[in-house]
Amino acid sequence: VKFTVEDHDGNRETIEAPDDMGLSLMEILKASEYPVLATCGGMALCATCHVEIMEGQAELGEASDVELDQLENLPEYFPTSRLACQVRIGPILEGAVIKLRGEDN
Ligand code: FES
Repeated sequence: VKFTVEDHDGNRETIEAPDDMGLSLMEILKASEYPVLATCGGMALCATCHVEIMEGQAELGEASDVELDQLENLPEYFPTSRLACQVRIGPILEGAVIKLRGEDN
């Protein structure tokens, strides 16, 4: 599956990820060397993997309650915010545009 990532500087790059391995978006972002801290390792506890889904939000569906709890505690979050560790890589992400919003240091 191919989708676009926008980094903290506004640079966009289209990346391709295997959609049959059960990986999360957070894991793919880290593997692609984006600055995602993911302190909790994908447990929906740290919110450092915060991303905004700029395009493709409708296809992804709603965030879970656990995810929403974390997002709502962020100083800044958006109706299109998600935790990248809670988004499974799949064909559903084809053409999506994902903006990094987590702390990068
Ligand atoms: Fe911690 Fe996603 S990696 S909430």
